[in-house]
Amino acid sequence: MNKLLISLLLTIGLTGVAHAAGDAAAGKGKTAVCGACHGADGNSAIANFPKLAGQNEKYLIKQLNDIKSGKRPVVEMTGLLDALSEQDIADISAYFAKQNGTVGHAAKDLVEQGQQIYRAGIADKGVAACTACHSPTGGGNAQAGFPAIGGQHAAYTEKQLMIFRKGERNNDPQQMMQDVAGKLSDAEIKAVASYIQGLSK
Ligand code: HEC
Ligand code: HEC
Repeated sequence: MNKLLISLLLTIGLTGVAHAAGDAAAGKGKTAVCGACHGADGNSAIANFPKLAGQNEKYLIKQLNDIKSGKRPVVEMTGLLDALSEQDIADISAYFAKQNGTVGHAAKDLVEQGQQIYRAGIADKGVAACTACHSPTGGGNAQAGFPAIGGQHAAYTEKQLMIFRKGERNNDPQQMMQDVAGKLSDAEIKAVASYIQGLSK
């Protein structure tokens, strides 16, 4: 075997270890403390606590690292992640990614406006369509790590758009969401958040 091939195989082997995939079965046992707020299967009953069920693994891992480091402040989770290793975070993310997310309903009087914003954006304000990154069904883009948002509690979505707009949540790559949310009015945020709650991923 030539040297190049050996070093290539070594590199592949090492990368494999460094990015060990999450183990959903092992993750289940590490989520007891999370269930109190997020629901045992990641479908939280309370609208201020985000549903995690069916969210893509890449996005979950990024958020958990950002919350752990304080880059994305979540006071309710203060200290909760301190003892978790990289492997624990990967396992927990794999577990929630595997669960089926539940879907809610959109308010009837907001569907039309919400759908318009979601599917087409707002051209005269330069607001990009949400579908472009979060997909027409709200399933997101797992490979890119763009979150699934379909079926999420409207109250949670509304709050995220508000804090992206204010810049209080600023962990989005290239300020993608701060840019989008910065151009939305309160009423537009309410409408699109309501529409998303009824969107099935
Ligand atoms: C005391 C309640 C509470 C507990 C316990 C809790 N969380 Fe959270 N979590 C929250 C709240 C509240 C938010 C959203 C904060 C916000 O509005 O920005 C959140 C956000 C998240 C997010 C970001 C979701 C998204 O869509 O961006 C993830 C991931 C998460 N929690 C995972 C966990 C995990 C894993 C555990 C257990 C180790 C856990 N949480 C324990 C309250 C809690
Ligand atoms: C150019 C791509 C792009 C567009 C367009 C976009 N988003 Fe996002 N969105 C993202 C990315 C990337 C994130 C995750 C940021 C991170 O990693 O913390 C995100 C996060 C979110 C979140 C937070 C999800 C959670 O679980 O906390 C919400 C809510 C959201 N987007 C709603 C919208 C809405 C509504 C629109 C349309 C008005 C929209 N997005 C348009 C890329 C985009």
